[in-house]
Amino acid sequence: MGRNILLGVSGGIAAYKACELVRAFRKLGDDVRVIMTEGAQEFVRPLTMQVLSENPVGTATFDPTYESQIGHIDLARWADVVLVAPATANLIARMAQGMADDLLTTVLLATTAPVVVAPAMNTQMWNHPRVQANLEILAATPRHRVVEPDAGELACKEVGPGRLPDPHVLLQAVDQATTEPILAGKRVLITAGPTREFIDPARFISNPSTGKMGHSIAQAAQAMGAEVLLVRGPVDLERPFGVDVLEVTTARSMHKVVMARAEEMDFVVMVAAVADWRPADEKAEKVKKSEMSDTLKMERNPDILAELGQQFGPQSSSEGPIIVGFAAESRDIVERAREKMKRKGAHIMVANQIGGSRSTFGADSATIHIVSERTVTDYPADTKAKLGRALWREVVRLTQSTLAP
Ligand code: C5P
Repeated sequence: MGRNILLGVSGGIAAYKACELVRAFRKLGDDVRVIMTEGAQEFVRPLTMQVLSENPVGTATFDPTYESQIGHIDLARWADVVLVAPATANLIARMAQGMADDLLTTVLLATTAPVVVAPAMNTQMWNHPRVQANLEILAATPRHRVVEPDAGELACKEVGPGRLPDPHVLLQAVDQATTEPILAGKRVLITAGPTREFIDPARFISNPSTGKMGHSIAQAAQAMGAEVLLVRGPVDLERPFGVDVLEVTTARSMHKVVMARAEEMDFVVMVAAVADWRPADEKAEKVKKSEMSDTLKMERNPDILAELGQQFGPQSSSEGPIIVGFAAESRDIVERAREKMKRKGAHIMVANQIGGSRSTFGADSATIHIVSERTVTDYPADTKAKLGRALWREVVRLTQSTLAP
């Protein structure tokens, strides 16, 4: 996402998981610099981190070569956020005392960026009152946030709290630390993915939507402070951290859930590629090939967006959520999106390009335009993760300006 991430790694067995974190941040388009304590270097070679981060790795306090590339104070200023993962009991103690006895602790004192601390250690160490007291000091330090370790089987074979959480949990904690909480106290419902319309138990009609855009939007909303309900069709994606997820299969099941929950929301964003049609006569038993007809009679699915628009859109008098629709178009993108917005009664439409080399289906990036009655904001091709945040900034801005009552 173009952020400057400083990753501090200390010497626990979970240090190997820090490699995955570096890869995940790089994949998101972040610039990553790694500082390793002496202990960390016993578990993972600095060269590994250098290759993965594509940056030199800080290992010693006053290494003349490293200092000549980026001084420790410049590094502290460079960071948009510092993630310490894993944070050992020893590092936590040194941080709590404000020590500056190696490069990592020195930079941690010099930075004004948010600091996310992810402890990982043996369960008995985690439970020790001194460790807990140090963690309390850290949690009470401005800009610092401690991510609770997971419980489970540890490398030492003990079972209990102390595991470093999965990368997506730490990524989300970093997301939150680097995001303005513009959706704090808001409730949002997002639909994502395709729907499946069954011919018989073994056959269905669907579309190539992977749900990536909807998941990015849900994740961004959560990071920005919203309470998020994600209603998703069949997708092959992790559940976004901290988001309530309801799984549906058909357009009709999505329709039911969305209509039941929309009224309590502040925003409903229809990203799902809902199938417009379904087989008119779904068979309970698998149809034999020899008995299959060459034509399939179809009937229309409910248009969820249009129904939401009718109930809560700009033309309706009832209080309700701001309705945001998506319009996948291959040409005259903005004009068609605005026409669709009016026809369906949405407040805002997000137009995205499909077809040709810039198809959005399944891709990690997209080109979008956010359209309201009187405005159009164009976004150059960008990652869906970044566009998720951009979308919320624009939706909130429009809600407070042109869409304000
Ligand atoms: O008409 P079209 O399918 O292009 O409109 C796309 C928008 O309408 C998307 O926001 C999609 O989620 C929504 N939609 C819907 N119910 C349908 C079809 C589309 O809510 N049956």
